[in-house]
Amino acid sequence: MRVPLDGLPERVTIYEVGPRDGLQNEDTIVPVADKAEFVVRLADAGLRTIETTSFVHPKWIPQLADAAELLDVLPRDPDLRYPVLVPNERGLDRALANGCTEIAIFGSATETFARRNLNRTIDESLEMFAPVVERALAKGLWVRAYVSMVCGDPWEGDVPIDQVVSVSTRLMDMGCSQLSLGDTIGVGTPGQVTALIEAHAAAGIGADRLAVHFHDTYGQALSNTLAALRAGVTTVDASAGGIGGCPYAESATGNLATEDLVWMLHGLGIDTGVDLAKLVATSRWMAGRLGRPSPSRVVQALSPKE
Ligand code: HMG
Ligand code: MG
Repeated sequence: MRVPLDGLPERVTIYEVGPRDGLQNEDTIVPVADKAEFVVRLADAGLRTIETTSFVHPKWIPQLADAAELLDVLPRDPDLRYPVLVPNERGLDRALANGCTEIAIFGSATETFARRNLNRTIDESLEMFAPVVERALAKGLWVRAYVSMVCGDPWEGDVPIDQVVSVSTRLMDMGCSQLSLGDTIGVGTPGQVTALIEAHAAAGIGADRLAVHFHDTYGQALSNTLAALRAGVTTVDASAGGIGGCPYAESATGNLATEDLVWMLHGLGIDTGVDLAKLVATSRWMAGRLGRPSPSRVVQALSPKE
């Protein structure tokens, strides 16, 4: 039943990260033909922005070492956006050689995760990103920035909001169009999310330029999403079936499941353009490929009982 709540947007853009954030952290390396089918089925279910892969060092993320082959076989459609993760100029060169028009750089709010994920200090990682963004913008690419560990860090504990805003500001000052706030280990709660968004607005990064990226480790992702929507955010990252995590962040589990997000948004009368039945069928199919059931509650609830 659809029952709206005041103060929420009429439409939400879902930024699907399953093929990238989901598959990067699965033990199974999915063959490129299955990855392509996954992306095609997600698009057929109505998702329009699908982060497909990453051009990072293949030794760091072997699950996505086939980025070039995947992009080569994906159908191109002007309505479909396929952003890819790029950490450095080598990654940008590879993305450009494969026809990418949208990229995402990914910074960290904490020193420990910057070192573990990028082999750099925060300052060094920002130095690494600067020429990537400059060259990408000069070529007319759309550039998103992620900032990770915005609600807490497994090694450093609580992360002060000022520290997050400082990294966010330096990333956005490079000229990125969108900033995705990553609760990489899923520890945040709604008051913290509201405070983060307000602090970004006070620093000149309004909710219209923010996306939220919640991992569901502590079961808080949907509550946090509702808090973000109330604070004016209209782009929400999610992973079909709730697959994934981050191999360089201890205790991170999968993202907010796209199905769980769609169930809540549709219940609130918020338009997403997503066909939930097709999406659930896609996640059930991918769960078969991965050899483990989907952790999404909505996928489980809408699946026939065995
Ligand atoms: P490094 O070892 O410091 O690299 O790694 P380097 O710059 O010293 O280069 C060493 C060699 O790697 C060189 O080759 C480079 O050419 C090569 P050599 O000259 O020795 O033959 N190289 C590359 N090859 C292919 N593609 C590249 C590339 N770059 C260098 N792009 C590096 C630094 C950044 C590359 C590494 O740390 C890395 O790849 N990290 C990526 C880790 C990652 O992908 N993590 C998961 C994504 S982040 C995430 O999931 C969080 C997020 O979801 C948000 C959230 O939840 O918070 C986004
Ligand atoms: Mg993530």
